[in-house]
Amino acid sequence: MAITTVLPNLQRSVAEFLGKPRKMLVDGKWVEAASGKTFETYNPATGEVLAHVAEGDREDIDRAVKAARRAFESGPWPAMSPSERGRLLLKLADLLESHLEEFAELETLDNGKPVFFSRIVDIPTAVDVFRYMAGWATKVEGSTIPISAHGAQYFAYTLREPLGVVGQIIPWNFPMIMASWKLAPALAVGCTVVLKPAEQTPLTALRLGELALEAGFPDGVLNIVTGFGETAGAALAAHPDVDKVAFTGSTEVGKLILGAATGNLKKVSLELGGKSPNIVFPDADLQAAIPGAANAIFFNQGQCCTAGSRLFVHKSIFDEVVDGVAQAAKRFTIGPGLDPSTNLGPVVSKEQLDRVCGYLESGIREGAKAVVGGHKRSGSGYFVEPTVLVDVKPEMKVVREEIFGPVVTAIPFSEPEEVVRSANHTVYGLAAAVWTRDISKAHRVAAKLRAGTVWINCYNVFDPALPFGGYKQSGWGREMGHAVLELYTETKAVCAQL
Ligand code: NAI
Ligand code: MG
Repeated sequence: MAITTVLPNLQRSVAEFLGKPRKMLVDGKWVEAASGKTFETYNPATGEVLAHVAEGDREDIDRAVKAARRAFESGPWPAMSPSERGRLLLKLADLLESHLEEFAELETLDNGKPVFFSRIVDIPTAVDVFRYMAGWATKVEGSTIPISAHGAQYFAYTLREPLGVVGQIIPWNFPMIMASWKLAPALAVGCTVVLKPAEQTPLTALRLGELALEAGFPDGVLNIVTGFGETAGAALAAHPDVDKVAFTGSTEVGKLILGAATGNLKKVSLELGGKSPNIVFPDADLQAAIPGAANAIFFNQGQCCTAGSRLFVHKSIFDEVVDGVAQAAKRFTIGPGLDPSTNLGPVVSKEQLDRVCGYLESGIREGAKAVVGGHKRSGSGYFVEPTVLVDVKPEMKVVREEIFGPVVTAIPFSEPEEVVRSANHTVYGLAAAVWTRDISKAHRVAAKLRAGTVWINCYNVFDPALPFGGYKQSGWGREMGHAVLELYTETKAVCAQL
């Protein structure tokens, strides 16, 4: 099918990119899969085929890892100064920024999200992350350490060295942002990378690979192998010559990654699922809290690891807040992401649509009531109505499990101690939020919430300087900020007798 007949108004560069089967980036060259196989990605707004992409597997991962190892140990990369690495990242950020419109369109086509958000959130955020991490290239320092060993005088210091060859496996909800979170710090400190994008959304990462070559990254420093999780992803996680694997995705697969990593005890960092509590106290500014609660769950069609999917509202304002969030849900213009008036797009795939609808059915079957939404949209494309569920019980699947769709469960509470207990009653611990005008209560509650991020009177505020990661089964390690440097460096102690 000629793609341009389906999508007549695309930028020419995007139409051309989609028109050719996409190859993988291995050792600085664009190559087909060793097997010659390809797979299809779909436009979630229509269900139609968007592009054909090389289907990498074990052999391709092996070639990419060998290239990354070579590039880590020899050639220009290990000889480069930190400042040269930083400049390459800045160049990549500039190139990405100058192709913003093209990337925004491609991201929207592949993922479904409204192009408005691709333009103002996804691509600019990725640019910022590359710039922020470029700055760290020159600032990773060891220390000198006074030691007290007997019998002699010593001079001891630490070196922070790049960890080595890194495998990075990323999801489909924010394809470019996730690529930037992973690539930027690893490259800043001098690691080499094999990146495995999600099979649903490989396109912007591949286009980014083209820009990385243009920026001048040496061959083999950044390799991109496209393919499925069970094959390419699993091979990367298990590869004996990979020093570290960084993963973002489901908690279920996070556990598989850990298992696969035991062979060579590679380092592992995980950003996993969430079921984040969003707590509205009776003294909150509801003008802010109500739209805040709606955005917390509906942004990106609810496909956020931090989605505010358990909305706890004080019983005295429960009806008002639930009604406000339901009204906000009704105001969304649901449609294809490329339509400029759309502010709620389709979910990413048929599989995700079925998963979300399965949760809606299970919730209703178990006695929950949909105040608004509750169904998928008929017709083509993977559209789900934004949904608010009430009359829910803590043991229901819709309250316990990550739905990863535009579905919020609203739960009344009476006392602060009670809501903290309920909020923490989950295997997850990624994010949480508190809405109140009482600053002392806000910080007291923030301290008690078992979550890697707590927002006060705001939601989904991210910054490259703020560490992000999970408590409990939401993951291991912190990305962004200077905390991320821990994930991609080893510390070496050097001790000299004088
Ligand atoms: P997933 O965890 O299967 O996929 C994420 C990435 O892992 C993809 O690149 C995939 O190819 C890869 N992968 C899958 N199986 C693998 C394996 N055995 N070994 C190595 N890599 C593997 O997530 P999926 O199936 O797309 O979505 C399922 C659910 O996971 C969602 O409904 C949502 O609840 C959660 N999820 C959470 C995300 C987050 O940001 N925390 C992102 C995506 C999904
Ligand atoms: Mg999966």
